[in-house]
Amino acid sequence: MVGEISSTRTLHRLVYASRQAFAPGQSPEEEIGSLIRASIRNNRAVAVTGLLLVHEGWFVQALEGPAEAVMTTYGRIDRDPRHTDAKVIAAGPASARAFGDWNMCARRFSTADDAILDTLAQRTHFDPHRLTGASALRLLKAVRGIQDRVGLAALR
Ligand SMILES: Cc1cc2nc3c(=O)[nH]c(=O)nc-3n(C[C@H](O)[C@H](O)[C@H](O)COP(=O)(O)O)c2cc1C
Repeated sequence: MVGEISSTRTLHRLVYASRQAFAPGQSPEEEIGSLIRASIRNNRAVAVTGLLLVHEGWFVQALEGPAEAVMTTYGRIDRDPRHTDAKVIAAGPASARAFGDWNMCARRFSTADDAILDTLAQRTHFDPHRLTGASALRLLKAVRGIQDRVGLAALR
């Protein structure tokens, strides 16, 4: 029992990728703005932090925090009709938060960020479902690096 309790308190990280699926009348900009506002509010309440990458019709998101909070949050996200084909790329205990500065932060790649895609050999065809756990985390950490430098240009 003690093990169970401590495991729900252990820091966990989950990374998934999904396809954007906005309905015809929906504005992606508005929907992303609104889901980020809900994310910041909800995640703050349960000590979840993370990063959401928005690129070429895809979402790639990391969620980190207490295991139970991460799983409950992901369960809610998974049912959201604004995306589809969510695939968990990595999930498990983490030794430290990688995105501790943000309850949630969204970023789009700009052409200036192309070097990252080159580095990850995803340049010709961005297909996050084919990323390994390690490379997905590397991608999101690289995005975090850009975000740290040019924070003002981020989506809010
Ligand atoms: C790609 C994507 C990422 C999301 N990320 C989060 C998140 O990190 N935290 C969260 O609470 N909701 C997130 N949401 C929104 C949830 O699916 C859901 O709409 C929201 O949690 C409902 O919150 P509310 O009941 O407070 O309005 C995300 C939705 C999508 C489509």
